[in-house]
Amino acid sequence: MEKIVIKGNRPLSGEIEISGAKNAVLPLMAVSLLTNKKLLLKNVPDLADIKTLSGVLQGHGTQINKINEKEYGFDLELTTPEITSTTASYELVRTMRASVLVLGPLLARTGKAKVSLPGGCAIGARPVDLHIKAMRALGANVKISQGYIIATAPNGLKGGQYTFPAVSVGATENAIMASVLADGTTTLKNCAKEPEINDLIKCLVAMGAKISGVGTSVLKIKGVTSLDGNTHTVIADRIEAGSFACIAGIMKTEITLKNIEPDILQHPISVLKDIGIKTTINQDSISFKGQEINPVDIETAPYPLFPTDLQAQFMALLCASNGTSEIDEQVFENRFMHIPELTRLGANITLKNDKAVITGVDNLQGAPVMATDLRASMSLVIAGLFAKDTTTINRIYHLDRGYAGLEHKLSKIGADIKRIK
Ligand code: EPZ
Repeated sequence: MEKIVIKGNRPLSGEIEISGAKNAVLPLMAVSLLTNKKLLLKNVPDLADIKTLSGVLQGHGTQINKINEKEYGFDLELTTPEITSTTASYELVRTMRASVLVLGPLLARTGKAKVSLPGGCAIGARPVDLHIKAMRALGANVKISQGYIIATAPNGLKGGQYTFPAVSVGATENAIMASVLADGTTTLKNCAKEPEINDLIKCLVAMGAKISGVGTSVLKIKGVTSLDGNTHTVIADRIEAGSFACIAGIMKTEITLKNIEPDILQHPISVLKDIGIKTTINQDSISFKGQEINPVDIETAPYPLFPTDLQAQFMALLCASNGTSEIDEQVFENRFMHIPELTRLGANITLKNDKAVITGVDNLQGAPVMATDLRASMSLVIAGLFAKDTTTINRIYHLDRGYAGLEHKLSKIGADIKRIK
């Protein structure tokens, strides 16, 4: 098992290039199943999750080529001349639950899909009931049998109405992808509005899909008979950007992030300002300058409010604040597993009625810690860069799922961070 070793408390500053967004690329890759034309995705980060989904799609008949390989990213050519299998196996789907995003496209293209239930993960049970209800609203027959979602639409999907009882990014994405080829018009209400969904819609519309309401919670999709190919540049990863902004904050230094649009990071930027981090928005970059670390209270919620994917990283930052903060994780039921690990580094965090109460300390002390999930592992990197002495982070396969070239990017701004086998 690889681990990362950080010698903390080093002066850091400089520029970091933000990669393409993992959570935009994954649904965009699934779009390839909807057409037999070529889809070229540019600005794809070199991440484990992208490798995993590539394997899943190849199992369905998608041909995938990496081109223009760069330091830790590339462009991806995907073509699915025909669907060779409509089954997504348990082995593959349990490796990465976003594989459930093949459900809508397989149904739309072939009228059938057999997709394993993803099973839970570290941060929660993560059911897919909303995905299934959305497919039923489009006329699919869906049953669960032996751990698989068995969905059929023998006469094709039909446009329908569906109001999501709760906001779900993945279920919204699956419903959009299923409805673009359905017969008739679909109205989806209480949709998630994450920027990654807007990016998916932008790509589908460029391929000929008829979708209105982008950026709102009500989407109207008029089904078409087929989609063209497209070349699409993936939006920047707002979660990667927010993670690095926390490093500028905790190290009280200036870090400039390139290739990130500020408008998809508005709420985290407003919280960073409340914390006392100076933010300068430039032409194609944002500079974050840590000065003081004031306590703030955070509650996670669907976009455009505070993203749950930045909760662990902001908690690490607040461990060094000059007061007491409260974090209320409202999206996932078990997304506080970084607390015991941060505590091992000397953080002062307690749980009170399911909220995390963080009392800032002057410094943290390096120690061996364990990554438990993707964003928790980034909170340990942030804390490790701040802590005195050495922090060793085990199980960094979690980190490799969502941060491309992390140690290279951090070394470039002066961090002493090494990956060891
Ligand atoms: C996406 O997951 C992201 N993953 C997650 O990022 C992110 O944390 C999450 O959205 C919330 O923003 C990708 O985009 C690949 P949800 P998703 O459906 O779609 C419940 C990361 O770190 N729910 O919006 O799975 C669910 O249990 C990952 O990059 C149901 O009850 O999230 C959760 O409590 C982690 N039934 C809440 O809704 C369903 O059918 C939000 O989940 C679906 C979801």
